[in-house]
Amino acid sequence: MTSIELTKLINQQMNREFYSAYLYLKFASALEQLKLPGSAHWMEKQAKEEVLHGLQFYSFLVRQEAEVILEPINAPEEIPEDCVIKIFAAALRHEKYITRQLNDLTALAAGEHNFCAMSFLSKMLDQQVADEFSVHTISERLILSDNKRGALLFIDSELAKR
Ligand SMILES: [Fe+2]
Repeated sequence: MTSIELTKLINQQMNREFYSAYLYLKFASALEQLKLPGSAHWMEKQAKEEVLHGLQFYSFLVRQEAEVILEPINAPEEIPEDCVIKIFAAALRHEKYITRQLNDLTALAAGEHNFCAMSFLSKMLDQQVADEFSVHTISERLILSDNKRGALLFIDSELAKR
């Protein structure tokens, strides 16, 4: 049995995941404008991943017979659009924010001794840690490139392989 409070917060997290998909599409479109198709492709793939995360929260709610609350998904926030390094830095900030939210959600489930929710959330957290690390790694490589065209194009072709 999922409490009213936990149900509300899991629904909010589901909304955040769908919002993340929207935000990643915004990163992708900015990178298309910068003529970095590999980086744009990576972001588009991540947008699809975020939709899947949203659906995982949805399925959990359904399986728990908890209420599904489909709130509007906000338009993506303003992002830096003129530089790939800044775009990945913005993605990393967002992932860190999502990790904090998931952590708080897991703490609430633990406080309620809701082991079903904790088990689900811990899988989502594992996935989240991996996602944050991927963005972190790309971000660091981009910073190392020091905005040199050759290095940026090499990283872009690597990101096209995702
Ligand atoms: Fe996610």
